[in-house]
Amino acid sequence: MKGARRLRKLLEALALFGLDPENLPEPGPVPEGGWGQLAHVIRTDEPLRTEPADLQRFHDYLWQAGAAAARELWEQLKPDGPLLDLGGGAGAYSAAFPGEATVVDMPEVLKLSKTQAKLLALNILNTSEYPNEQGVVLLANVLHLFGESDCAAIVRKATAALKRGGILVVKDLDSATPQGVLFALNMALFTKDGDVHDPQTVRSWMLESGLGEPRRLRLQTSPESLVLVGRKP
Ligand SMILES: C[S@@+](CC[C@H](N)C(=O)[O-])C[C@H]1O[C@@H](n2cnc3c(N)ncnc32)[C@H](O)[C@@H]1O
Repeated sequence: MKGARRLRKLLEALALFGLDPENLPEPGPVPEGGWGQLAHVIRTDEPLRTEPADLQRFHDYLWQAGAAAARELWEQLKPDGPLLDLGGGAGAYSAAFPGEATVVDMPEVLKLSKTQAKLLALNILNTSEYPNEQGVVLLANVLHLFGESDCAAIVRKATAALKRGGILVVKDLDSATPQGVLFALNMALFTKDGDVHDPQTVRSWMLESGLGEPRRLRLQTSPESLVLVGRKP
């Protein structure tokens, strides 16, 4: 049914708050954009567009919000580079990486990069392969933008880009947390097929790509995160 997936994300968010339909709070003013457009987006099954002016603000936020988690991630993993940071944005994770790093993203986003890392303009969906012989490939807060078949293809190409013994790190929101449920509703509003994918699905993409059994890391600085690390045999 048209819009069914988006409607389900709304219902999951309502269930999260345990809203009683008989006892709803007084509604406030409906915002013009964003969640104020939920009914329209569900009806048309067309996501909202983001304005270019938002891009700088969004990446400034990610740069700050990611700094502590990025430091903790690399402290725990003590990785061997080089790092390929797919959809790396402003580069919070590359900036904290202890070694050579390359941020891959769209050209308009790389202009906003704040790191000393190398920059590579590449559409990770349309490219048949990524630069290879990587020690680490990172997908931080990227897979939620895409549907399942695109994610499986991205993970496959990410694994192919690793040298033997290299690791793929997938970091995203944990779908079992309240933050994950609300973020999935955001993805239903703003993306064509994006979602907060559940850990078992992410694990299956990693195993199918040829990685060993992924292990889960817990980040004290980001308890709502799912972090899975798989090593290439
Ligand atoms: C939520 S941001 C995450 C940025 C960074 N990894 C972080 O955690 O701070 C997702 C990033 O993926 C990039 N991205 C989305 N689609 C892409 C594509 N097809 N090719 C390359 N990058 C893409 C976006 O431009 C954005 O910078």
